[in-house]
Amino acid sequence: MTLVAGIDSSTQSCKVVIRDAETGKLVRQGRAAHPDGTEVHPDAWWAALQQAIEEAGGLDDVAAASVAGQQHGMVVLDENGEVVRPALLWNDTRSAGAGAADLIQELGGGDKWADAVGIVPVASFTLTKLRWLARNEPSNAAKVAAVCLPHDWLTWKLSGSTDISTIKTDRSDASGTLYWSAKTNQYRPDLLELGFGRLLQTPEVLGPTGIAGHLPNGAPLGPGAGDNAAALFGTGAGPGDVVVSIGTSGTVFVSAEVSPDDPSGTVAGFADVTGRFLPIVVTLNAARVLDAAGKLLGVDHEQLSRLALSAPAGADGLVLIPYLEGERTPNLPDATGSLHGLTLKTSDPAHLARASVEGMLCALADGLDALIERGAEANRIVLVGGGARSEAVRRVAPELFGLPVLVPPPGEYVADGAARQAAWVALGTAEPPVWSAEPPESYEAVSVPLIREQYKKAANLLG
Ligand code: XUL
Repeated sequence: MTLVAGIDSSTQSCKVVIRDAETGKLVRQGRAAHPDGTEVHPDAWWAALQQAIEEAGGLDDVAAASVAGQQHGMVVLDENGEVVRPALLWNDTRSAGAGAADLIQELGGGDKWADAVGIVPVASFTLTKLRWLARNEPSNAAKVAAVCLPHDWLTWKLSGSTDISTIKTDRSDASGTLYWSAKTNQYRPDLLELGFGRLLQTPEVLGPTGIAGHLPNGAPLGPGAGDNAAALFGTGAGPGDVVVSIGTSGTVFVSAEVSPDDPSGTVAGFADVTGRFLPIVVTLNAARVLDAAGKLLGVDHEQLSRLALSAPAGADGLVLIPYLEGERTPNLPDATGSLHGLTLKTSDPAHLARASVEGMLCALADGLDALIERGAEANRIVLVGGGARSEAVRRVAPELFGLPVLVPPPGEYVADGAARQAAWVALGTAEPPVWSAEPPESYEAVSVPLIREQYKKAANLLG
């Protein structure tokens, strides 16, 4: 049996799956937690990766490995390959004003950025963080020789190299930096210089089965991927399948032939792992909205789900706007969450539970609308991520998306996507292997427009 490893270094934890390259059968797995916070030293990811690899029985017998990871995090290295300061993560909003907003203005508007690199600056994207660093920590900025992303750095560490000129990345993650264009497959050094004030060493961008280095046993390391692109690949979603992932971030994405080039920035034009595009809408508030509602009500996830399902659709007008960590789509980095429609009738746990599920899903349904407006084909929803384990989420989702919803069995789809890429590398085939999967649960489309109408009304009050 040819074994391959797929790694998902996500915001909250690191997961390793070891699968049979031919069939995709899961052979072993491991996981380890990451520290909390939006600023994390990459050494913590490396320690978690070692622990997860050990729990998965090691990598000595794998024929290839690939790393997928949280996107956009700014990993800055000095000329000796040492980390200059902790990484700022995708959900760190400090670079919203004097980073993202300034960069939009300096290039002459969002349309200029959409034309240049398919995305418009928001605090999540790497270049805005580099701008923040240049302006706020000049002595750290002066030490920086190279910039890379979390998955690039981990792949490089696994290769054992300490030479910053050997760091590699892939199209999917490079397309979320603001200084690489998925449309031309080229860096935009001028934009890197605009943001940081000078040029930096950037990773070579590999094609779908490029080799990023080798493990100590000689097995190749695949190019890796950003987590959303890996999830698309891991679920095996086809044309017209819109993946909605409810994790720390909420993401709505699809594979496409062309970049969406949305001048408003709502839909970002990332790349996928096969050479195509991946139009995506991302919210900062997803699974943790359910965590917060559970905490408020003093209940666990299962109880929260039962409570939500015991209240009527629309929660009798109670609306939760879930901007608990500020928000990225819409771009309101300083917003906070709010509750609308509190009455004596709606002031109970069931209504609040229902409103939290509906509010979180409404934000994602707005994302689906935006994707469709930018030309995405949307026939059905593939619902994944920790939040999809909630029965209430699975049942309410079709009411808001108005499309059939498929829920694959709970799994590590990002790590699986990385494993599938590693299998593609190991097998050396022209097309990626097709792995059979257990059938998904499916839910019929039922549209309840009232829920989205009352959400839009309440969200508009925030401006
Ligand atoms: C995508 C994004 C998030 C992170 C989460 O643009 O910021 O989905 O990749 O890991």
